[in-house]
Amino acid sequence: MSKDRLIIFDTTLRDGEQSPGATMDRDEKLRIARALERLKVDVIEAGFAIASQGDFESVKAIAETIKDSTVCSLARAKDADIDRAGEALKNAASGRIHTFIATSPIHMQHKLRMQPDDVVEAAVKAVKYARNLCADVEFSCEDAGRSEIDFLCRIIEKVIDAGARTINIPDTVGYAIPEQFGHTIGQLIERIPNSHKAVFSVHCHNDLGLAVANSLAAVLNGARQVECTINGLGERAGNASLEEIVMAVRTRGDLFPVETRIDTTGIVPASRLVSTITGFPVQPNKAIVGANAFAHESGIHQDGVLKHRETYEIMRAEDVGWNTNRMVLGKHSGRAAFRARLEELGISFDTNEALNDTFQRFKDLADKKHEVFDEDLQALVSDVKKAAEDERYKLVLLDVASKTGETPEARVVLNVDGSEVEASCEGAGPVDATFRAIEQIAQSDSMLQLYSVNAITSGTDSQGEVTVRLERGGRIVNGHGADTDIITASAKAYLDALNHIAAGVPRAHPQAADV
Ligand code: KIV
Ligand code: ZN
Repeated sequence: MSKDRLIIFDTTLRDGEQSPGATMDRDEKLRIARALERLKVDVIEAGFAIASQGDFESVKAIAETIKDSTVCSLARAKDADIDRAGEALKNAASGRIHTFIATSPIHMQHKLRMQPDDVVEAAVKAVKYARNLCADVEFSCEDAGRSEIDFLCRIIEKVIDAGARTINIPDTVGYAIPEQFGHTIGQLIERIPNSHKAVFSVHCHNDLGLAVANSLAAVLNGARQVECTINGLGERAGNASLEEIVMAVRTRGDLFPVETRIDTTGIVPASRLVSTITGFPVQPNKAIVGANAFAHESGIHQDGVLKHRETYEIMRAEDVGWNTNRMVLGKHSGRAAFRARLEELGISFDTNEALNDTFQRFKDLADKKHEVFDEDLQALVSDVKKAAEDERYKLVLLDVASKTGETPEARVVLNVDGSEVEASCEGAGPVDATFRAIEQIAQSDSMLQLYSVNAITSGTDSQGEVTVRLERGGRIVNGHGADTDIITASAKAYLDALNHIAAGVPRAHPQAADV
């Protein structure tokens, strides 16, 4: 029996980035977009082009780079948003404008302050306007999960007539329950007379932990596009996780009449890349991509797996990209091998100087830790790119004294706007002392919200990857740093966060009340 294609629409770079502190810069987004293309994601939602100049540039760069996936930009149902999305996508091999407006009574009344008839009119106008700029237009009914089905039928019929080719039904606040949500999707497809002219899509949030279950229920009822993110990243509790959706329909091919074109062996590398770039660690027991997802602890399970793996394993670790973490390079590797591996990872450099600088740092790292893995290279590249940027704070020197029974002390020398400044402080531990010394110089008036350390690879010579989250005046930023010395990694992460605060460019949020 031939199966329908389930379109995988990844929104890690748009909804994922709306997760507090998950902001990514243009280069980081490009690296993730390339990984998504390698994964064979059908549609990459690259951002919300009107949010800021930086967001526009990111969508544009991704549209100009990616050839094998459709690149999409979000736009509210407003001419200015749609123009900006169209402009960012104009050089895409395949582009899509995704426009939306809220359709639930609570959103129409309190957020939009619009009458339902006016919402229908705005939606139709937006879709027609977008179709003038792009043949591929998606329309979303924001908060569809709490919208009235009669109203959904009415507005969707009209937007399909206006030219929308994909109709997305978001459960914006994660309120739906699988059976009910699946039924709604089935009803919409059945009741809307022109539903056969569009692909029905779902976009589920995970507030009740049901995003994947709701999406799968929708697929069983006729949805043929699922919007999801790597590691389930996304606003609040996140979105449906790409890896879980893809592996569920593949593993239970006996139940799902669909298949995706995802190269599942790219799943774990993509998960690690997103985690490294955003600083959001993957919990060990996370399905598919968690460190324990394929680890068997109990003796009974191990015995069964050794005798016949299917006794306890429903998927093979290698099929989702575990164990592809080859040792790629060591201290004897040459520049050509180094460059080739970076190219395979989708990493390129604008100048030879940048390549040489990265190569030199790779040699230094290989001296310290012998085996350099893909994850090390990703962290190294992030570090080099940051160092090359015109940043306010740079680490010049860190000297930490920590001895059993004595109070730890840190001396820090920073380059601030081109001049060197020094400070020393004691602290509860070496990290605390380092952060205090940095703060003595920066006086940032920010609050530390999160400090987390992860080993990038296994072994005690692994680089420590540190995330620091700071909050100032309601704005949240994440900073990242990696080093084989975790105190240095911590200082780099703190300074990275301070640099984000200093760079502070305001961005519009697509779902903010201001329409
Ligand atoms: O959750 C949501 O409703 C969205 C839309 C903008 C698609 O992210
Ligand atoms: Zn969303």
